[in-house]
Amino acid sequence: MSKSPIIIALDYSEEAQVWELLNKFNNEQLFVKVGMELYYSCGNSLLEKLKDKGHHIFLDLKLHDIPNTVARAMQSLARLDVDIVNVHAAGGRLMMEHALEGLDKGTSTGKRRPNCIAVTQLTSTSQEVMQEQLKINDKIEDVVVHYANIAKESGLEGVVSSPLEVPLVKEACGSSFLTVTPGIRLEGDSKDDQKRITTPAEARTLGSDFIVVGRSITASVDPLEALNTIKREWSESV
Ligand code: C5P
Repeated sequence: MSKSPIIIALDYSEEAQVWELLNKFNNEQLFVKVGMELYYSCGNSLLEKLKDKGHHIFLDLKLHDIPNTVARAMQSLARLDVDIVNVHAAGGRLMMEHALEGLDKGTSTGKRRPNCIAVTQLTSTSQEVMQEQLKINDKIEDVVVHYANIAKESGLEGVVSSPLEVPLVKEACGSSFLTVTPGIRLEGDSKDDQKRITTPAEARTLGSDFIVVGRSITASVDPLEALNTIKREWSESV
C-alpha cells in the first residue's frame, strides 16, 4: 500500500475517540499522526492496534534533550516500527546525529528504520513570538531554512514546517528532502491557534510532500466528507 500524503492528526486523549473517528472512514488504510496527548495516555498498545488495521503512523513526540538521552529514547522508539518520528532541530546537530544512531540501533534486522524529521519552527509560532520570547531576530523563513540545512547535514530525511516555507526548504535542501506540513485549513475553517497556514491545494502547489490535518477533519461535522474534499483538492492541484 502506498502512503497517503494526507496525515490525520489524532489529537485525542482517549482510545474510544480514536476509533469513533477512524470508524467513519470505511476501513480505509490511513496515515495517522499520534502526538504527545494520545501517546502519553494510550501508549504502545494503541500503536499496535493501529498497525494491525494497516494504518501508517507518524509518532510526533518532538524529542529535544541532550544527545545521549535522545539516542537512547530513539532506540526505544525504533522498536515500535512506526513510519516517521521527529525531533526539534533546535536541539542541534549532535542531538540529531545521535537520534539517527539510536534509531539505527533500535531497528530490528529486516525492518525499515523510521524516517526521522526535524521540527523547524512550530506553525503556531509567529515572527513576534520568535523575536520577543525566543530572542531570535532573524526572519522566520531564514531560521526555518537554516534549521532545515542543519537537519539535512545531520542525516535526517526531512523537516516539519509551514507549507509557506516549503519552496525555500526544497531550494536549499533538494527536492527529495521531505517536507511534512501542518497548519492546513480548508477555506472557511477557523485558524484556531495556527498562524502560518494554507489550504491543502496551496500546500501541494508549494511542494509539500505530506500535509498534517487535525481539526479540519476531526472537528468537522462530517470527517469523511472533509477528508474527501482534501483528497480532491490535493489531486486537482500540482
Ligand atoms: O488541528 P490542526 O490541523 O491545527 O493540528 C495540527 C497538528 O500538527 C497538531 O497535532 C500539532 O501538534 C501538529 N504540529 C503543528 N505544527 C508543527 C508541528 C506539529 O501544528 N510545527
